[in-house]
Amino acid sequence: MNIDGRPFRAIWLDEMDHWSVRIIDQTKLPWALELVRLTVMEEVAHAIRAMLVRGAPLIGASAAYGVALAMRADGGDASLAQALAVLGATRPTAINLRWALARMERILRPLKPGLRKAAAYAEAALICDEDVATNRAIGRHGMALIKAQSGGRRVNVLTHCNAGWIATVDWGTALAPIYMAHDAGLDVHVWVEETRPRNQGASLTAWELGKHGVAHTVIADNAGGHMMQRGDVDLVLVGTDRVTRTGDVANKIGTYLKALAARDNGVPFWVALPSSTIDWEISDGLSDIPIEERAATEVTTMSGRALDGSIATIRIVPKDSPAANPAFDVTPARLVSGLITERGLVAANEAALRETFRPC
Ligand code: MRU
Repeated sequence: MNIDGRPFRAIWLDEMDHWSVRIIDQTKLPWALELVRLTVMEEVAHAIRAMLVRGAPLIGASAAYGVALAMRADGGDASLAQALAVLGATRPTAINLRWALARMERILRPLKPGLRKAAAYAEAALICDEDVATNRAIGRHGMALIKAQSGGRRVNVLTHCNAGWIATVDWGTALAPIYMAHDAGLDVHVWVEETRPRNQGASLTAWELGKHGVAHTVIADNAGGHMMQRGDVDLVLVGTDRVTRTGDVANKIGTYLKALAARDNGVPFWVALPSSTIDWEISDGLSDIPIEERAATEVTTMSGRALDGSIATIRIVPKDSPAANPAFDVTPARLVSGLITERGLVAANEAALRETFRPC
């Protein structure tokens, strides 16, 4: 997608040296567009852990390039094992991380060490290109849902967290249908939930929708249910970090509450995902999906631009009050209207998922 008219992906190879990896430091958005150059596997691991890159598909793509950097340094078995272990331990909930690393290992393990570097770069590039094509397909399928609500009037979509182009290699998952609808001339407006504690909605989704010219309004997380009761939401569209084979959906903390409110108000609740986000090994999202616990400081503080223009972090919780910070929750399949995948709209249940994707 474009930033001020310049086309970007969320991860790419440096245009000059063709081997180091470029990313946008998402911890700096929306205040600064800082491009970071990653040169060794450990820097990629740090970028994922510290959330310079985030969003399930982008975490997977970044990890793939992390393996490529490791193979550039040393194509041996120990180096491969080390890269898979270090990168695999960065974040626990998004299954795309495990998926991408397993794919890299499958390609690289049988090769002689001397052949691994080229193969790793090629596979990482393929993962990125496939992600873009997949998200385009998700966009096309999801746009039909927006069109169906349209009837010539404005369609109001509510989204949570950031499942836009910077959470993927390009296009996004939940935001891809919105970009396509907007580009096709449909009148679409997005309620952007701020998404405490890290504010991915307020900082990232609002930024990228604004850069693309999509009408949007940021709301406090707690306002979503009220908007639905008032009839101001036609459709909820969110992304996901892991979907069980039975259709349970893990996504950013607070998603479950929106699914409950959507069900109570008869608002369709759709989840957009690439098939790499399906975890075929598990069936019960509540007990089987590992939920990342992040630092309490994400809850006890907030960062933003002070009125004097400086970037400031302030404490908003009494000094001695403890805080807990589960980063994801699980929405049971029964609350999900359906899944928007690269192969079309799929019911959130095991039979429909198997029928669509037929895993080996
Ligand atoms: O903690 P984050 O910012 O990585 O969480 C991101 C989300 O929850 C997204 O909704 C999800 O990864 C889908 S991204 C297309």
